[in-house]
Amino acid sequence: MKITQQEILAQAAVAESLRPVFAGKKAMVRTFGCQQNEADGERILGELVACGLTPTEELAEADVVILNTCAIREHAEQRVLGIIGSMKKEKEKRPQMLMGMCGCMAQEPHRQEQLMQSYPFVDFLFGTDMHHRVPGILKEVLSSRRQKQFVTDLPHSEFGVISEGTPVCRDSAYKAKVSVMYGCNNFCSYCIVPYVRGHERSRDSAEVLAEVEGLVKGGYKDIMLLGQNVNSYRGDMDFPALLEKCASFEGEYWVRFMTSHPKDASPALVRVMAEQQRVAKHFHLPFQSGNDRILSAMNRKYNREQYLEKALAIKERVKDVSLTSDVIVGFPTETEKEFLDTVELVKQVGFDMLYTFIYSPRKGTVAEKMEGRIPHEEQVRRFSYLSEVQNEIAQKNNDALVGKVLTVLSEGANEKGVPTGRSSGNKIVTFDTPVPRGQFCKVEIHTAKQYALGGKLLK
Ligand code: 5AD
Ligand code: SF4
Repeated sequence: MKITQQEILAQAAVAESLRPVFAGKKAMVRTFGCQQNEADGERILGELVACGLTPTEELAEADVVILNTCAIREHAEQRVLGIIGSMKKEKEKRPQMLMGMCGCMAQEPHRQEQLMQSYPFVDFLFGTDMHHRVPGILKEVLSSRRQKQFVTDLPHSEFGVISEGTPVCRDSAYKAKVSVMYGCNNFCSYCIVPYVRGHERSRDSAEVLAEVEGLVKGGYKDIMLLGQNVNSYRGDMDFPALLEKCASFEGEYWVRFMTSHPKDASPALVRVMAEQQRVAKHFHLPFQSGNDRILSAMNRKYNREQYLEKALAIKERVKDVSLTSDVIVGFPTETEKEFLDTVELVKQVGFDMLYTFIYSPRKGTVAEKMEGRIPHEEQVRRFSYLSEVQNEIAQKNNDALVGKVLTVLSEGANEKGVPTGRSSGNKIVTFDTPVPRGQFCKVEIHTAKQYALGGKLLK
């Protein structure tokens, strides 16, 4: 459902009316999880700024604090719960402070009551399709001293909105995240995302293009198009066409995207990456398992052979591409032999980076009800073994870059004061001479570590 302009304007008017209330006050949004959530966090902060609040990263000086949570794995939830616990002290010291929670955890049906009851100092909670309503939510919370909950209870086929023209407060002046679609219809058996982010819906291409053009004109150099599965983008053009258009504005910049589902990553998308100079040469293509029986139990809708074909085609067609992936180890009933199929696939493809996850049961998903859970120690063993295999591969891939000259987008200096940046393939590159952040430079690579390169700035 698209939120009407009338509703957006009404919220803007509420924000305006709150300005005197929040004048001189500060707000903090703490985001956990994926880039999609980070993009949401920037919109929520944008709404808070529109209400008259000034952004801060210091909890001690924040008058409004919002935790933008993630529910992807048990560990992510535990982190958030730990932090809410520690907020209690802050709230006792400053009872006037407003504390809210939002994001994927706040959208999980079984969590809402539990969060409100276990943490009575949390003033309000709102779901993943309520961002455009933040001013109205704050107004209601201010006028009632009771805990408030704002979450949709629509069925999956209707749950999910698109709002255009809402404020955004970006956390970087040269890297930007632009959502092109929201939600997910894939229902991988382990995954909570479709339940907490609703069904797939795409923004109009004209809106996306206008946002990207504005960013390029505003000096942004690295623009990431976001979606749970960008390949299911369905505007008045498909995703490869949208990407090509996003890469056609005047100026020096990169446009990249995250994430792709292998079943829909098309030859057209690979062609656009290969041909368009401004499309960053980074392809993140999660495979999740290298075994056909497990892939089927995960409801992934492709097999090992099909994945290999796509991954190898990307490596062949896109010069100097950096190929990365996600994998889950210890999925219910996964045997040692099936795990070794995953290891074998990792060796065959030779990823530049692999995000390895231990399977974590998520309430309400199909896999949660499966028998044959793998003991945690065994999951950890598989995790460590696969990480070792991958580390060797990453080192080899990076060794092959020594002597080459890479274009690097400077990120200023790292915590040790060393100049650092990212390559088109999103690899960390450190170098010898400072370059202002947000500027492109050329670096000749002299040293290679598993997950970082080092070199000399070329003048
Ligand atoms: N357990 C472990 N890893 C998961 N992922 C998604 N759901 C789970 C889960 N229940 C991983 C997948 C996905 C990445 C974002 O997180 O690998 O691609
Ligand atoms: Fe992102 Fe998924 Fe975590 Fe939500 S649950 S923040 S969509 S990774």
